[in-house]
Amino acid sequence: MMRDTKFDILFEPLKMSNLTLKNRFFMAPIGTTFHMKQLSDFLAERAKGDVALITTGETCVHPGGRAGAGQEEPRLETDDDIKAFSPLVKAVQNAGAKIVAQLNHAGRYSSSRALQQQPVAPSAIASRYTGETPRELSTAETDDLVMAFAEAALRAQKAGFDGIEILGSSGYLISQFLSPVTNKRDDKYGGDTLQRATFLFSILQETRKKVGDDFNICVKFDAEDSMEGGRTLKDSILLAPHIVSAGADRLHTWAGWHEATRPMLPMFVKRGAFSHLAAEIKKVVDVPVSTVGRINDPYVAADILAKGEADLIGLGRALLCDPDFVKKTSDGRTDEIRRCTACCYCFDQIMRAIQGDKKAGLKCSINPELGREGEGLIRPAEEKKNVVVVGGGPAGMEVARTASLRGHSVTLFEKDDKLGGLVNLAFVPPHKGELKNVVDYYVRQMEILPLKVRLGESFTEEEFERIKPDALVFAAGARELLPRIPGISAEHVFTALEILKDDIPVKESVVVIGGGLIGVETAEFLADRGKKVTVIEMLKAVATDVGPTIRWGLLARLSKKISMLTSTSVIEIKEKSVVVSDPEQNRKDIPCHTVVIATGLSSRSDLVEPLKMRDTEVYVVGSCVKPGQIADAVADAFEVGCRI
Ligand SMILES: Cc1cc2nc3c(=O)[nH]c(=O)nc-3n(C[C@H](O)[C@H](O)[C@H](O)COP(=O)(O)OP(=O)(O)OC[C@H]3O[C@@H](n4cnc5c(N)ncnc54)[C@H](O)[C@@H]3O)c2cc1C
Ligand SMILES: Cc1cc2nc3c(=O)[nH]c(=O)nc-3n(C[C@H](O)[C@H](O)[C@H](O)COP(=O)(O)O)c2cc1C
Ligand code: SF4
Repeated sequence: MMRDTKFDILFEPLKMSNLTLKNRFFMAPIGTTFHMKQLSDFLAERAKGDVALITTGETCVHPGGRAGAGQEEPRLETDDDIKAFSPLVKAVQNAGAKIVAQLNHAGRYSSSRALQQQPVAPSAIASRYTGETPRELSTAETDDLVMAFAEAALRAQKAGFDGIEILGSSGYLISQFLSPVTNKRDDKYGGDTLQRATFLFSILQETRKKVGDDFNICVKFDAEDSMEGGRTLKDSILLAPHIVSAGADRLHTWAGWHEATRPMLPMFVKRGAFSHLAAEIKKVVDVPVSTVGRINDPYVAADILAKGEADLIGLGRALLCDPDFVKKTSDGRTDEIRRCTACCYCFDQIMRAIQGDKKAGLKCSINPELGREGEGLIRPAEEKKNVVVVGGGPAGMEVARTASLRGHSVTLFEKDDKLGGLVNLAFVPPHKGELKNVVDYYVRQMEILPLKVRLGESFTEEEFERIKPDALVFAAGARELLPRIPGISAEHVFTALEILKDDIPVKESVVVIGGGLIGVETAEFLADRGKKVTVIEMLKAVATDVGPTIRWGLLARLSKKISMLTSTSVIEIKEKSVVVSDPEQNRKDIPCHTVVIATGLSSRSDLVEPLKMRDTEVYVVGSCVKPGQIADAVADAFEVGCRI
C-alpha cells in the first residue's frame, strides 16, 4: 500500500543544536521493571521500528531520589553505572536511532519503603501520591543535588548517549521546586515563578559546564501541572524562554502530576489531548518543542505537525503496544498497527511494582512480547500441525496468529458473523471506543496471515471428524452467570450483554444488579440514553475489577449519573421494583421498569472435557477457562500459540 502523503510531514528530518533526527517521532520515557539486558532488547526493538529518538525511562541521579521500581531501577549515580549503560546505548544506535537518558530525582514521590529513609523535598508537605510527608532539603543539600544531576549528565555522555532529558515534570523533585504548592522555601531556591526555577536553571547551567556545548539537553516539564493552586500555562509561558536561555536544546511538554486532578492516560482522554499546550509553548521559544499523550494514530500525529502545534511527536504506550508503529506508518501499512487502547494496564502494573508487588512488572494487555523481545518466542514449529481454534475473540485470534506465524496450518471457527468476541460489546459503552483497536488489529492479522477463518460456523463433532486436527484450541469465551433470584425470568429482565448487543427498548427507570465493570459500564450506557439508573452491588464498592488508573475517573463520572447502592443484595425482582436488603439488613423496594443482570461470567471448561478423551492435543484459553480481562486472554493465548 502507498503511504498517505499526509504522513510526509512526519518523515521530515529535524535539525536542532547538537542533534539531527531522521523523522519526527521519539519514544517517550517509559520507566520499566526490566533488567539491563531486557531493557536493551526492549529499546533496540523500538529503534529497529524506525523511531528517530529513544528516551530511556527515568534514571536516578542520586540514591535518595529513587522512584522505587525495584532493584532494576536504572541509575547514573556513580561512574560504575557508565559501563552498565554502554551496551544498551550501542544496541539502540546500531539499530538506527538516537538515544537520550532521562535523568530524575523523585523527591517526595519516593517512599520510605523504597529508600529505607524519609524522602526529601523542597518543603515538608505531605504527598497524596505516597501518603508520606517528606523532609525539607537544606540549601547545601540542594546545591549537592544540582551537582548530582550535572554529574549524571556527564556519565550519560561518557556512556555514549546522544543527549539527556531532565525530568522536570509529573510531580518529581524538579517540578516540586517549580510549584508554589510544594515549594515554600525562603532561600535562593524559593520565591516567585522564576525564583522557584533556580534549581532547574542551576542544573542546566552546571550540566552545560560539564558536558560542553556539543551535547543535546532536553527538559521535560508540565505546561500545566494540573494541581489545585499549582503552576499554570501562564507561568510556563513565562518560564519556557528562561529554560532555553539556561541551556535547553529542546522542550518536552507534558500535562500534569501523578497527583493531578485531571486524568491524562485513560481512554476517555481524547487522542492528542495535550498538543494545544505544546502549541502555546512553541510560540515563545525558538527550540523544537515536543508533545506527548494519547497519540496512538499517525493521522493524529500528522495533524499536530501540520497545525504547527509541535515539532516532534512523543509515542509512549503506542510503542509499548507496537514497536513497529513508525515503520508501519512509513510503509503505508497503518491498518496493521496494533494501536494502544489506553487501557492503562501497563501503568497499573508499574504502579504495583513501585508499591512493592514483586510479581508486577511492565506488561501490555495486547502485546504479549513486551519485555521479552530478546527471547525469540515465536520460533518455527519443529513439527507442523493441523490446528483448529474454536472462537474468534482476542484469545482465539492470538493463538491463531502465533501458531500461524510459527508455520502451523490453522483454521479458526467463529460462530458469530463477525470476529472480535466480547470485545465487540466491550467497546459499546461510553468512552470505550478505543477497544475497537483490538478487534481491528486482529481482524487484519486474520486477513494477512496464511490461515483459514470460518465465520458464522460453530465447531461441531462432524467438523472434528472431518478435519481431524492435531491440536484443538478452545477459545469459546465465557457464559453469563444468572443468579437464582425469584422473578429473574420475567419479561422486563435482560442481561447486560443483551442490552449492549441489541437495541432493546429499555423503559425509563432501570436497576442494574451487579456493580462490576460490565454492570457499571452498562449502567453508564443506559444513563447516557436518558435512563434513571440504580446499580446494586453486594460488595462494599463498585468497579473493584477495574484498574486504579482508570477507576478514579470512572467513579467520578458515575457518581454524577447513576445511583449506586453498595453492601446491598437483591432478594426479589417484582414487576415494578426490585426488593433489596440494605447494609443494615432492612428490606427496601427500589422502583424500576427494567432490570439488567450483570452478576458475572463463568468459564466453559465443561465443553472441553469430552474432547480430552480424543487422540488430539487439547488446549483451553482465555475467558473460556477463566473469565477476565483482555490482558489475561491474550497472555494465555500467546503462551499456547508458542507451545503448540
Ligand atoms: C461490557 C464489557 C466491557 C469490557 N471491558 C473490558 C475492558 O475494558 N478491558 C478488558 O481487558 N476487558 C474488558 N472486557 C472483557 C473482554 O471482552 C474479555 O476479557 C475478552 O473478550 C475475552 O476474550 P476471549 O477471546 O477469551 O473470549 P470472547 O471474547 O468471549 O470470545 C469467544 C468467542 O468464541 C465464539 N464461540 C463460542 N462458542 C463457539 C463455537 N462452538 N464455535 C465457534 N465459535 C464459538 C464466541 O462467539 C466468541 O466470539 C469487557 C467485556 C464486556 C462484556
Ligand atoms: C508504564 C509507563 C511508564 C512511564 N514512565 C515514565 C518515566 O519514567 N518518565 C516520564 O517522564 N514519563 C513516564 N511515563 C509517561 C510517558 O512518558 C507519557 O508521557 C505518557 O504515557 C503519555 O503518553 P502516551 O499516551 O503516548 O503513553 C510513563 C508512562 C507509562 C504508561
Ligand atoms: S497496556 Fe493498554 S495502555 Fe498500555 S500500552 Fe498496552 S494497550 Fe496501551
